[in-house]
Amino acid sequence: MTEAIDIAVRFAGVRLDRGRRTILSGIDLDVPRGSITAVLGPSGSGKSTLLAALTGELAPAAGTVEVFGQPVPQRQRALLELRKSIGVLLQGNGLLTDLTAAENIALPLRTHTSLPRPVIDRLVAMKLHAVGLRNAADLYPRELSGGMARRVALARAIALDPPLMVYDEPLTGLDPIASGVIMNLISELNDNLGLTSIIVTHHVHETLPVADRAVVIANGRIVFAGTPAELEASDDPLVRQFLRGEPDGPIAFDSAARTEAA
Ligand SMILES: Nc1ncnc2c1ncn2[C@@H]1O[C@H](COP(=O)(O)OP(=O)(O)OP(=O)(O)O)[C@@H](O)[C@H]1O
Ligand SMILES: [Mg+2]
Repeated sequence: MTEAIDIAVRFAGVRLDRGRRTILSGIDLDVPRGSITAVLGPSGSGKSTLLAALTGELAPAAGTVEVFGQPVPQRQRALLELRKSIGVLLQGNGLLTDLTAAENIALPLRTHTSLPRPVIDRLVAMKLHAVGLRNAADLYPRELSGGMARRVALARAIALDPPLMVYDEPLTGLDPIASGVIMNLISELNDNLGLTSIIVTHHVHETLPVADRAVVIANGRIVFAGTPAELEASDDPLVRQFLRGEPDGPIAFDSAARTEAA
């Protein structure tokens, strides 16, 4: 019983198909509550697909996905309820261009709660403060740098105080300094707000320092799960190839082309 409470997300025997293609299979993964898990893997390996199963966008072809002990529902209404407990930051930010930073952050609060305006304003100010942008409330997205826009999107993702955060490539398009700021924020928010975070990324070296656990997916399955230190020490040829970013090795980066050539 206690085990279930300590697990925020559980994949058990999961297979994920897109159309008639199997993208991932045999996925068994437990994400401990309170942890930061880095999901790593080459482009096209199925990282975003894994997140889609978590948010209920994609139903598993086999196995079960549970969030806080509840199977991800198929029915629309229950799914919307679940999604309120998952904060999502996608690489495009998804900010509405004709709304200010503050209005963007207020949007989920207006949509999903009936809180009075002054309370919403207060919550928005707190979220802006949490991402270090107290003075950016009235700026429009076009007036923000890439790093600031990502922080506003992060503030919006935490607007409803979701206990679970998922990040899909949170560092895309950011320079090393802005990347550092975002990774620190992700880590601080996780600890200060008592969240559980899953970070999908191919930015291995920026992400591992803040991660408690690392998962590598390649060739349609999980090829490594453990601590960042265990990952760095792994002598699995698949893992080594991925960490070094080498095109040749056991990871088939372009399996279609290989089949044709063979
Ligand atoms: N909506 C979709 N319909 C059909 N196939 C899809 C769909 N989304 C993804 N795929 C396929 O699933 C595979 C995995 O894609 P996915 O986006 O999960 O990879 P990824 O690891 O997130 O890659 P990247 O690092 O480039 O974002 C790819 O071969 C892709 O073409
Ligand atoms: Mg992706």
